[in-house]
Amino acid sequence: MIRVAPSLLAADFADLKQELNSISDADLLHVDIMDGVFVPNIAIGVPVTQSVAKIAPMPLDVHLMITRPEEYIEQFAKAGAEIITFHVESNCDIDACIAKIKACGKKPGLVVNPATGLEEVLPRLKDLYMVLIMTVQPGFGGQKCKEECFEKVAALRKEIDRQGLSVHIEVDGGITAENAPRAVAAGADILVAGSSVFGAKDRNEAIARLKGN
Ligand code: DX5
Ligand code: ZN
Repeated sequence: MIRVAPSLLAADFADLKQELNSISDADLLHVDIMDGVFVPNIAIGVPVTQSVAKIAPMPLDVHLMITRPEEYIEQFAKAGAEIITFHVESNCDIDACIAKIKACGKKPGLVVNPATGLEEVLPRLKDLYMVLIMTVQPGFGGQKCKEECFEKVAALRKEIDRQGLSVHIEVDGGITAENAPRAVAAGADILVAGSSVFGAKDRNEAIARLKGN
């Protein structure tokens, strides 16, 4: 099953209720947390996540692009996140962060930037709900997808299958109805889409197109 997670970053923040209504067919809501340190941009914090969680009918997929993720995991869990992902590049104790997310009753995911290999991910697959393969350098929506990252998706899917696990693979950055089939063919099963969903007139139609319908 392919799931689509529209990225809130591309929504109209002055009208979030209406924006959420317009993506009623979405499987997850991707929430980008940026601290202006780990990435050169600031976006969305705990209060907005909490308000959105109250009105969003779909589970929240919270993508932490922050330093010291261990200090914020609990707050985002309490705010209503269902999935919490953090970057292997964030210089944290990866295993401690995974354990913390699980202790909060949430689903953990590891994120790797386009230039980062799978070394930190592969030994931990059995502890993860999901791996997020970035297909752009994180920080901003609306960038062009680096399709060479799909090779990493394929290698990861091969290893997940070899180990007989059911870890999900999410791709994030510049995903469109045009390149989505190649991401899915490589083994991705969760597609984050900011511009290609919120930039469309009919958002649910854009979601269907991403799924190949
Ligand atoms: C990038 C964010 C993405 C972004 C995706 O740093 O992690 O989730 O919002 O937006 P698009 O689909 O427009 O690239
Ligand atoms: Zn993201």
